[in-house]
Amino acid sequence: MGRAGVRPRGAAVTDRQWVLARRPEGRLRPDIFSLQPQPASDEPLAPGEIDVALRLFLCAPTMRNWMDPPGNSLYPSVPLGAAMLAPAGGRIVASADPERPVGADVTCLGRWQGRLRLPGSETLLVPAGLSLVDAMGRFGINPLTAWFGIHRIGALRAGETLLVSGAAGSVGSIAVQLGRLAGARVVAIAGGPEKCRWLTDVAGADAAIDYHAGHLSEAIARACPGGVDVFFDNVGGSTLDAAVDAMNRMGRIVLCGQIAGYDGTGMRGPANMMRLIYGSITMRGFLVGDFAAEWDLARADLKAGYDSGAIVYRDDLREGFAELPQHFCDLFQGRNNGTLLMMADPGAREARA
Ligand SMILES: NC(=O)c1ccc[n+]([C@@H]2O[C@H](COP(=O)([O-])OP(=O)(O)OC[C@H]3O[C@@H](n4cnc5c(N)ncnc54)[C@H](OP(=O)(O)O)[C@@H]3O)[C@@H](O)[C@H]2O)c1
Repeated sequence: MGRAGVRPRGAAVTDRQWVLARRPEGRLRPDIFSLQPQPASDEPLAPGEIDVALRLFLCAPTMRNWMDPPGNSLYPSVPLGAAMLAPAGGRIVASADPERPVGADVTCLGRWQGRLRLPGSETLLVPAGLSLVDAMGRFGINPLTAWFGIHRIGALRAGETLLVSGAAGSVGSIAVQLGRLAGARVVAIAGGPEKCRWLTDVAGADAAIDYHAGHLSEAIARACPGGVDVFFDNVGGSTLDAAVDAMNRMGRIVLCGQIAGYDGTGMRGPANMMRLIYGSITMRGFLVGDFAAEWDLARADLKAGYDSGAIVYRDDLREGFAELPQHFCDLFQGRNNGTLLMMADPGAREARA
């Protein structure tokens, strides 16, 4: 997802777009967005540009950070009145890029809008034989994030104990299963008994902790009597604090995400830093893009897992451009089961094919 994609573009044919009307304050609400007509443009495409009919939008928690005012140079900040940035995919309807013909599907950093013009070089072609849903879902950035977090950052080994937070989600559910396949004992943290049941009964976690049910540190200590060797953290905040207390010497903390801090409460480091020092514990952040050169390798491994049934993948595929903000907010209420993908209407179900 290139930073260059953040630049506003003179996109568009008559269509619709969701613009950021207000900055969020506290818990995210769908009414900070406003549905507007997308301004039309009949300018010819510049050399190398393509015009994409966007059909599928990935709801990624980090997009909440992009709604904040400019300031943190790490994030793009969506200007007020501009269409919301989002990982997206669609079909090319006009092309001045010889490598990207009309009719091909691409993924990109897009916007919550119907049409998008951008340089073809800022998009990735969906390989022949793969549906757009699979390209953005089971082979998309979330399972890849789990793969690199487990194998490259966590360097998980057989016989170790892996703890995963946000474990029933898109990234977390794959991290749990990769951990099991690596021969680790896997303990999963998620919100609610239903998600916990799915984690033990379907994803194969050795134990699951419902963090809504009580004291998290005590529950981790009970579920991990031998301590934790690798903590794959999607959540941060008090969850990270509780896990730090359970880490074994030479343990590794995989900083994948901080969703507990995205929604207005702010992000902070763990309170017990001395535990990291005395335990010689590594805490390392990463971005899935750091490993782009190895994506094909990871995809091949994931494919083998899906094909053999060793990895169960869930996408939470919903329909309706007009309801995009509402569905996006569900991520912060735990109301998604797996990768939350929104199909634009109408007829985007073909993106499944
Ligand atoms: N580093 C990277 O390159 C990279 C790439 C992709 C994603 N990520 C990160 O990976 C994490 C997971 O993303 P995802 O797309 O897979 O989302 P997801 O886990 O499918 O959905 C978000 C889940 O987070 C949990 N959650 C929401 N608010 C919470 C809170 N305040 N405290 C604790 N849990 C909360 C909810 O599950 P419960 O019901 O269990 O609470 C919710 O279902 C995010 O932090 C994201 O930013 C990082």
